[in-house]
Amino acid sequence: METVVSGIRSTGNLHLGNYFGALKNFLKMQKENNCFFFIADYHSLTTHPKPADLHANIKQVLSEYLACGIDPEAATVYIQSDVPEVTELYLLLNMNAYVGELERTVSFKEKIRKQPDNINAGLLTYPVLMAADIIIHRAGKVPVGQDQAQHLEMTRRFARRFNSMYGVDYFPEPDAYNFGKKLVKIPGLDGSGKMGKSEGNGIFLADPPGEIRKKIMRAVTDTGPVTPGGKPSVPVENLFTIMSVVSDPSTVEYFREQHSLGVIRYGDMKKQLAEDIIKITEPVRERINRISSDNAYLAKVVAEGAEKARESASRTIREVREIIGYRPF
Ligand code: TYM
Repeated sequence: METVVSGIRSTGNLHLGNYFGALKNFLKMQKENNCFFFIADYHSLTTHPKPADLHANIKQVLSEYLACGIDPEAATVYIQSDVPEVTELYLLLNMNAYVGELERTVSFKEKIRKQPDNINAGLLTYPVLMAADIIIHRAGKVPVGQDQAQHLEMTRRFARRFNSMYGVDYFPEPDAYNFGKKLVKIPGLDGSGKMGKSEGNGIFLADPPGEIRKKIMRAVTDTGPVTPGGKPSVPVENLFTIMSVVSDPSTVEYFREQHSLGVIRYGDMKKQLAEDIIKITEPVRERINRISSDNAYLAKVVAEGAEKARESASRTIREVREIIGYRPF
């Protein structure tokens, strides 16, 4: 039995990238393993949300994840800020994380570019907090999308460094995990880059069908004409990638063939893609609406989750303090 940790920042609604990049793998693992799923609401403070928005976002993301099938009876579901032990481990790990390596992190460099007026220290140490989230439960597997691969590599390094600094074999080195072996990157609808929460290029699980059809019909393709035997352009390949996770393999094959024959009609492909997405999102959307209005249920889930997560986290902190040399008189 593996210990598995998965998380999401509480900065926006759940999109297809989150679902196919990370969540689907977690759902497959939750019954047979010791699984922890949490909402990274401390991480979201790096963008300075308003207090009312912070709370509403946590609730929305929690409801969406439960609606997708995370089972609080099987997995431990909790809010990061309900488990203060994480912040203690974060502080301890910060002492062995070097400013140079943090400054070289791709996500940090990206943030500097995106929010030059708010380059706070939390952004710099973001990977350390993420490492704390994972190794606080001494996890071995972390289902994530490709964009988190570097953070996982850093987590492994911090775990290894702790072990060698104190001459122990305490923290396992966790692996980024996907059932298909390769980590997934779901592209956006704008023809470049990955699907994101705030890039305006995503399909959200809470989007009503009409909205999904509109977004897909507006997705970037190319202006053609398609040369028989030619390779699809990047924006078109992106649509094929999305299709490969939501549609039947025979559907993907059909449109690939149409493309290679040079007779593809992007309008037809998009109509099919939209309907296949809706087939997946519509039942989830209905459950989101139901769950997000059930405050008593949500409160119960997070209270029980916090208790279980703190039990695991406080054991680690006790042992870590002992290893570092904090001992009773
Ligand atoms: P976040 O909130 O950006 O995304 C949550 C999960 O969804 C995956 N993901 C994607 N996968 C494929 N294609 C995409 N377009 C795509 N967009 C997002 C992410 O890889 C991630 O697995 N730092 C993390 C949150 C976090 C965390 C952790 C995750 C904090 N502590 C500990 C795992 C373990 C983040 O910002 O993910």
